[in-house]
Amino acid sequence: MKKLVVLSGAGISAESGISTFRDNGGLWDNFRIEDVATPEAWQRNQELVLDFYNQRRKQAATVKPNAAHYALVELEKDFDVTIITQNVDNLHEIAGSSNVIHLHGELFKSRSTKNPDLVYEMSSWELKTGDLCELGSQLRPHIVWFGEEVPMMEIAMEVTEEADIFVVVGTSLAVYPAAGLVHYVGAGKPIYIIDPAKPDISLKSNMTFIQEKATTGMEILIKNITNK
Ligand code: APR
Repeated sequence: MKKLVVLSGAGISAESGISTFRDNGGLWDNFRIEDVATPEAWQRNQELVLDFYNQRRKQAATVKPNAAHYALVELEKDFDVTIITQNVDNLHEIAGSSNVIHLHGELFKSRSTKNPDLVYEMSSWELKTGDLCELGSQLRPHIVWFGEEVPMMEIAMEVTEEADIFVVVGTSLAVYPAAGLVHYVGAGKPIYIIDPAKPDISLKSNMTFIQEKATTGMEILIKNITNK
């Protein structure tokens, strides 16, 4: 089977009701990154950071995958699909995608502040001060904050290099190193970009820009890459 690799961003979850980061009214219109999504913010005001992710977890628990998530599951019938997502929601998994790599962490997991290898599934939306890991240290959101290493990047680059088709859906390509993945796609391999707005990339001859929202764009993509 041909390898289909997808880089997804907040835009694929927009039609499920989860706000993006940089669209009008997006998350970064209402919060400052330096207040809620950096290691310094955690040191300075742990309660504010815990609350920021509690609110996002509470909202994410109320929404469902949309047709774009399910279209990617459907493509597993025709392709060896790997999804590299910048999203921390679990909508790809709930929809049924088999191979999901989270570059920026996972909202419904917490992690030890003493040993980063100790990662825990969260059963509720709330993570509080005093919730401790098995070593007795405070649990933190299992999120890659700005300025932190992106542990899954190595694997993501290797997977991208193997792609026969690369699909970018719902990302502004504003954040590195994730946005740099498009440069790891093999020479001449087709790249499809699905977004209602043109992301920050100069379109090359192997790139097809589908200027649509994710649900519509995925329908067009499927017609382009299968004979459905
Ligand atoms: N369908 C498809 N794309 C959409 C839709 C939609 N319905 N609505 C908005 N978009 C597009 C926007 O045009 C934009 O290009 O989704 C993209 C959202 O961009 P961002 O808000 O920057 O989100 P993302 O690219 O995922 O951000 C990357 O930045 O803040 C960090 O860690 C955070 O993972 C995030 C990273």
